[in-house]
Amino acid sequence: MHKIAVIPGDGIGPEVVNEALATLEQLVENDDSLSVEWEVFDWGSEYYLKHGRMMPEDSLDQLKAFDAILFGAIGDARVPDDVTIWELIMPIRKEFQQYINYRPAKQLDGIQSPLHSKKEIDFVIIRENAEGEYSNMGGHLYKNTHQEVAVQNTVMTREGCEKVGRYAFDFARENNYTSVTSATKSNAIVHTMELWDRSMTNVSHDYSEIAFDSVYIDALAASMVQQPEKFGVVVASNLFGDILSDLGSAVVGGLGVSPSANINPEGSYPSMFEPVHGSAPDIVGKGIANPIAQIWSLALLLDHLGYTKHSNIILSAIESTVRDQVVTPDLGGSYSTKEVGQAIRDRAAAA
Ligand code: NAI
Ligand code: MG
Repeated sequence: MHKIAVIPGDGIGPEVVNEALATLEQLVENDDSLSVEWEVFDWGSEYYLKHGRMMPEDSLDQLKAFDAILFGAIGDARVPDDVTIWELIMPIRKEFQQYINYRPAKQLDGIQSPLHSKKEIDFVIIRENAEGEYSNMGGHLYKNTHQEVAVQNTVMTREGCEKVGRYAFDFARENNYTSVTSATKSNAIVHTMELWDRSMTNVSHDYSEIAFDSVYIDALAASMVQQPEKFGVVVASNLFGDILSDLGSAVVGGLGVSPSANINPEGSYPSMFEPVHGSAPDIVGKGIANPIAQIWSLALLLDHLGYTKHSNIILSAIESTVRDQVVTPDLGGSYSTKEVGQAIRDRAAAA
């Protein structure tokens, strides 16, 4: 029996997580080979307003007992964004050594890419999720004077670079992608990016059947817009990967359909699966949030736990729902969150 911790969070988080859980419930009812149970945690901004913290003191210990985490979104106007993020998402990512952030950018049949690309877009971004540019090393001098100086250090380790490189190449090999493209800027960032480049090149020698290319991040961003169909696996540092993955999600139809995974590849800790989008305060309570990113995140979670068949059932059901244009307003439709969720479940049940 696998145990899943569910944290719906704030805003549209609970609205879309409800649809994912209803989908999971139906799959479990219809198939004994899917052996999972789940527990829902009410952590987030409401919890913070009541208790003065985003989650209980022993929350990480509680979560350790689970095999995976399904997360919705957080963010609430009544709580500063740095509190919501640094007291809930970041501790989970860091404590559970989820040093891989994985985001597929796969164009679903029926969703028109804003780029009007005629070829199929299907690439994945593997982002380093634990070190790099997002370190809190640094500081200010002479704050609020004309002489003010701010320094923010990038920290890269050979081990960290090689681990994400190896993950990217293994992923390409296992999923039949023929190329790995590394995002770099070693012409201008001469120390850390040089280490990144050397690590990627070293790792690439062990994967001679996979084409390897190292491309400057600026040119890479441009070609992701002009020729998105040519990419397979894109591996990038924390900052570059953050930007590229939002670009990737934009070229295949937007935030409403983009899932992600924060992975601890060793399996020592639970990995966490969540949509790329946030709590969407502008549409909360209207019943029009697109549940696809959340349901797709559930499919990634099930695949991670070894339930590939069930993951594929969900993906096919999502594709068929989109093909039939049963979609929410962000994709040009007029269906509600619940109607889209139900349409996906109907198709999954018929699979
Ligand atoms: P956002 O992703 O919440 O919303 C951006 C735009 O996309 C909005 O117009 C929203 O309506 C739309 N959108 C997002 N998800 C959608 C869905 N499923 N269906 C239809 N439309 C959707 O990003 P924003 O506005 O920058 O941030 C809002 C709050 O969310 C902030 O507090 C922010 O800190 C937080 N946030 C949390 C994240 C997380 O929980 N991992 C990630 C990003 C933002
Ligand atoms: Mg981002």
